[in-house]
Amino acid sequence: MPEIVKGLKDVYLDTTESSFIDGQVGKLLYRGYDIHDLAEKSTFEEVVYLLLYGSLPTAQQLADFDAELRANRRIPNEVIQVLDLVKASHPMDALRTGISALSAFDPEVADNSIEATIRKGIRLTAQGPTIVAAHHRLRQGLEPVAPNSDLNHSGNFLYMMFGETPDEETANLLDVDFILHAEHGANASAFGARVTASTISDLHSAVTTGVGVLKGPAHGGAAEEVMKMSLEIGNPENAEEYARKHLEAGGRIMGFGHRVYRAEDPRARHLRDRARVLGEKKGEPRWFQILSHLEQNTMLPYRDRGICVNVDFFAGAIYYLLDIPDDLFISIFALGRIPGWTLQCVEQYKDNILIRPLLEYTGEMDLEYVPIEQRG
Ligand SMILES: CC(C)(COP(=O)(O)OP(=O)(O)OC[C@H]1O[C@@H](n2cnc3c(N)ncnc32)[C@H](O)[C@@H]1OP(=O)(O)O)[C@@H](O)C(=O)NCCC(=O)NCCS
Repeated sequence: MPEIVKGLKDVYLDTTESSFIDGQVGKLLYRGYDIHDLAEKSTFEEVVYLLLYGSLPTAQQLADFDAELRANRRIPNEVIQVLDLVKASHPMDALRTGISALSAFDPEVADNSIEATIRKGIRLTAQGPTIVAAHHRLRQGLEPVAPNSDLNHSGNFLYMMFGETPDEETANLLDVDFILHAEHGANASAFGARVTASTISDLHSAVTTGVGVLKGPAHGGAAEEVMKMSLEIGNPENAEEYARKHLEAGGRIMGFGHRVYRAEDPRARHLRDRARVLGEKKGEPRWFQILSHLEQNTMLPYRDRGICVNVDFFAGAIYYLLDIPDDLFISIFALGRIPGWTLQCVEQYKDNILIRPLLEYTGEMDLEYVPIEQRG
């Protein structure tokens, strides 16, 4: 019997220059830069440039890159019509469908050169928010709002969602959230995107794969589940009993645990502080209090087993307080991750080998085929 590594746990698939994760100490670098510096000092636009081109931009490079992102936000009317046809679907299904539909209108769809893949990654990064916002408005019976090139990436997304220019603080919150979600090594959705790219399929197919893989609650769906749990708990006094019963029944507390981190996910820190401040500002401190109670009480013993808070634990409370409906939480994660999927595909194309593992067969062998009329 060959050695079977279930879930490919701890298996190295390839080398990368995209991001570095030390799960034991909770360290994350994008292209060598600490996530804490990027979250505090950078912008999503700059981080996308860093990921795609490998170094921080000069002021002129960033201005040109930002202009390119702003110029590519529009999606064809045909794609809006498709989104209208599927408006009853989950926002992640609409995003998957929208990205897939965009492939019909991208002149470089079949060009898998590194240069064209980066250009397509920039376009998809710019167009993704337009798909999510248009679908969200269509499903409410509202007209989509056209992109506003006076606003930055996060500000424009909020503008297209709600039809109003957001305040700077709110746009900054989302900007940080996009930065924190931009790249994370060979996570399940990036692995899915790499598998697609490894067949020498194109970036639209790979990003469509990424969206499909991200949708599951074990990956991108956790923030939504955390907020649902918080709403069920309702008040900090109920948190302990709720969590204990849930764990005793064999359930998991979403937003805890990670395949790679045994220490706290370094991204959680930035959302924890911001969830607290936002809750106080909006006069709704209880969501942070519930989460804090779970982290510092019920889940404290789990720390010793390496089950610590992850990026999704506080994200849901922030989205909720920004009036973003809970079924849109994963889509926001996906919008942040498009540059990371693009980079993983670029690396795959650069030194490609078909990703094709083996399965050890444990079924029956050499059975006799009985014609249907002779089966009992
Ligand atoms: C992310 C996740 C799938 C990683 O799982 P994994 O590396 O495959 O680890 P396992 O699922 O094998 O879990 C290992 C042990 O920790 C426990 N565990 C893991 N996450 C837990 C959680 N959130 N709550 C309670 N227990 C948890 C498991 O029950 C298991 O215990 P056991 O060994 O007694 O059976 C898992 O931690 C999880 O389901 N977390 C909740 C979902 C989530 O927040 N996802 C977002 C990730 S960014």
